[in-house]
Amino acid sequence: MCGIVGYIGNRNACPFLTEGLKRLEYRGYDSAGIAFLSDNELEIIKDKGKISELESNNSLSNLNFSVGIGHTRWATHGEPNKINAHPHFNHNKSICIVHNGIIENYEEIKIKLEKDGFRFISETDSEVLVHLIDYFLSRGYSLFQAVRYSLNEVNGTYGLAVISKKEPDKIIVARKGSPLIIGIGKNENFIASDLQALISYTNKVVYLADDEIAEIRNDSFFTRTISDESIKKEIEDVDLELEQISKGGYAHFMLKEIMEQPNSIQNSIRGRLLFEEGTSKLGGIENYVDRILNSRRIIITACGSSWHVGLIAEYMLEQFAGIPVEVDYASEFRYRNPIISNDDTVIFISQSGETADSLAALKEAKRKGALIVGICNVVGSSIARESMTGVYIHAGPEIGVASTKAFSSQVMIFALLSLLLARRLNMSKQDGSNIILEINSISEKIKNILDNNEIIKNIAEKFKDVKNFLYLGRGYNFPVALEGALKMKEISYIHAEGYPAAEMKHGPIALIDENMPIVVLAPKDSVYEKVVSNIKELKARKGIIIGILNEQDNELSNIVDYVIRVPETIRMLMPILNIIPLQLLAYYIAVSKGLNVDQPRNLAKSVTVE
Ligand code: AGP
Repeated sequence: MCGIVGYIGNRNACPFLTEGLKRLEYRGYDSAGIAFLSDNELEIIKDKGKISELESNNSLSNLNFSVGIGHTRWATHGEPNKINAHPHFNHNKSICIVHNGIIENYEEIKIKLEKDGFRFISETDSEVLVHLIDYFLSRGYSLFQAVRYSLNEVNGTYGLAVISKKEPDKIIVARKGSPLIIGIGKNENFIASDLQALISYTNKVVYLADDEIAEIRNDSFFTRTISDESIKKEIEDVDLELEQISKGGYAHFMLKEIMEQPNSIQNSIRGRLLFEEGTSKLGGIENYVDRILNSRRIIITACGSSWHVGLIAEYMLEQFAGIPVEVDYASEFRYRNPIISNDDTVIFISQSGETADSLAALKEAKRKGALIVGICNVVGSSIARESMTGVYIHAGPEIGVASTKAFSSQVMIFALLSLLLARRLNMSKQDGSNIILEINSISEKIKNILDNNEIIKNIAEKFKDVKNFLYLGRGYNFPVALEGALKMKEISYIHAEGYPAAEMKHGPIALIDENMPIVVLAPKDSVYEKVVSNIKELKARKGIIIGILNEQDNELSNIVDYVIRVPETIRMLMPILNIIPLQLLAYYIAVSKGLNVDQPRNLAKSVTVE
């Protein structure tokens, strides 16, 4: 997952390239580079590290050019260093390329090109593209056709941009499996991997789809498929504002997005609660509700935090819709040759809508005839577009690599879906109305937790030097334990594991001693007494316990070592409240360790490579 930008037009392109790459750094920040035309020559400035370092080390602010491309990298092939950084030149520096994705048959192509006399200098798979294009150019093809023929030779994924000193009035772009958007301006055009790099300059965009290629000039563009069929693309208006992707005074995007959850949850339910009928309304899927209800089973596939939401959704949908549910990692689903038929519903959960494993799993399920439902945050994302139906969670842009508000909004969408299905089955209007009242109270309850964040910050201070964490929960709170552990791992680099609380006695309890902090989710629900027993087993072995307890719980507050209070709610909404303190705990520990909370090492926001 890397970030790509490009510009062709009548202004100095450099500020757009550098600012755009900064806005795309959540996609990867191992190295950065720009390429541009200057006095009919192509120049490249690139290095290991972030675009801000490149900017200051090379005084990019003094540059002035009107055609250029840029790249911020998350390394897949070849370590993060200057040679492997993008852009990449061909041998005589007449063209250069930036690429996001993986060329799966690059070794085979590299061998052929080396036999033809091409010399490689980097360890990347992407470099084969620039030499392959050069190969076709040397046979007299135009830049557009040379890129198109090259892409017909490769297997894998790409979002790419190419510029040439011999055809200086255009940028060639193409996509397959990695997003690429064209921004339409007045006598200028832009390209980017994501809207966030474009919205300060235009809100008119063209989304390239898989296997599409485009030639972009300063005042026009045309698109074709890589098999050379003509296609007409619509220019769409987007309503994303710059304010939505700035920190808004918070120290980190992650903290802003944690604190935004009262609003993001409101945005997720806005217009979707039918108080009179005691049900919910999800416009995107209303024509598919019968097919979902008649499904033989529902399969939910996703990755990471979204997969944790899938586990929560399994409890909800089986409880409220009575449909068997299976939850699968997308990376496993896509390769295990799943037995799927057209009376299955497969739901894909993805904040970015660009996760490669989830997108590939979707295409596999679609090929087998299932109903494909996408639950995404990014409007117009690949998974959203490839789905037959779906629901946008409307959580707003999530920039922090660690997912927070998207997680809670995804859970809320499944609560709305479960209510909708249950009211089509045998749930009474009164029961439906009671659920709606509780759904409508959640934002305020989240706010109550956030207002007490100082308590969580103080607890975090005491645990910033630990080496391990355990997270325990039962029922709806088992996936919350997994999600809390993931937050801790990915931003504080502390090893953390989530377990069903009852599983401890089947081995993991051997880990318990006075050095093991354990976060236990213990709301007053149907398994509360069981959790109390589990906590007593841990205390008997000197475990240090942080209890996530309901406000009126005075029993466990005398047993655990630290107490974080959350308001009571109905079972299926507990995960939305119980995850908030775990998000903050991980955040404050990571900050106290001086770590880069928004861009943790080795990670990127959208995993568009497998
Ligand atoms: C969550 O904090 C991580 N950033 C990661 O696990 C993420 O949830 C996963 O990569 C899936 O992303 P998606 O929802 O955009 O598909």
